[in-house]
Amino acid sequence: MSVPGTRPRIVLTHPLLPEVVRDELEPHAEVRVARSRAALLRELPRADGLITLLSDRVDEALLARAPRLRALANYAVGFDNIDLEACHRRGIRVANTPGVLDRSTAELTLTLLLACARRVPEGEATCRADRFAGWAPDHLLGLELKGRRALIVGPGRIGTETGRLFRAIGLRVETLGRNASATEIRRKLAHAQILSLHCPLTPSTRHWLNAERLALLPADAIVLNTTRGPVVDERALVNALRNRTIFAAGLDVFEREPRIPAALRRLPNCVLLPHVGSATREARNAMARLAIRGVLGLLGGKRIPNEVRFRA
Ligand code: DGY
Repeated sequence: MSVPGTRPRIVLTHPLLPEVVRDELEPHAEVRVARSRAALLRELPRADGLITLLSDRVDEALLARAPRLRALANYAVGFDNIDLEACHRRGIRVANTPGVLDRSTAELTLTLLLACARRVPEGEATCRADRFAGWAPDHLLGLELKGRRALIVGPGRIGTETGRLFRAIGLRVETLGRNASATEIRRKLAHAQILSLHCPLTPSTRHWLNAERLALLPADAIVLNTTRGPVVDERALVNALRNRTIFAAGLDVFEREPRIPAALRRLPNCVLLPHVGSATREARNAMARLAIRGVLGLLGGKRIPNEVRFRA
């Protein structure tokens, strides 16, 4: 624990946005940036606070190296990379960055949808390869979206914002919550021409979209995933895309990031993005501020709205 009157030492696993760190964190703390695992292990024994990325695994082994650690902020809304129980056992409070990236992520989901429906990557690749042979009535036919049925899985903040954007382009939006029965899931999937995944990754949502559920979707379905890769069984999705039992998929996240399987990369009917759902200046800036205020607030013993609590 930091000695009263001294500035806490806060370790960042990435410089984040340096100007935000300079303005919001440096006046209040001694800041260390540890970009490699080795550097992090060196810094942890003296760290009071920690700011991590979604790609940092925070587990018992890591926490055992951080005897002074009292607060941690994850620079993400998702926190499946953090062992909350281990943090709780050690009295380490945890924060995340909810609310500020909803719009950006929803806009990216819409981007993926439009790109899938109109086969944008195929058209783009045609032009870049100088293979545009002239206008033709049947060239790159896609789908018009107005009036189609969309199903939002996980109608939290991001799912709700995505639903709003979908309605604005004329989609009929339904939602599927955490407590949906097996019958409701089957019925709604059978009508879902657009399936947009927004549930957090938990043990019960791992491979939520599996071969069996993919088989329920109509043949013109578009699957969108901007939450976490493991919510989808990637191998089953590749099969569905390859066998054209669905129309397309738009993916911003992958099962074993940053690895994207070659089988997926080779398919023309999917749009692939490198986990950039929240990658707007607005969202990333607000996330940095929220993470910094979170870790400082928790270190100061305050109650903060973005604390993530362990529930046994
Ligand atoms: C999050 O915050 O969990 C997002 O995946 C980051 O883009």
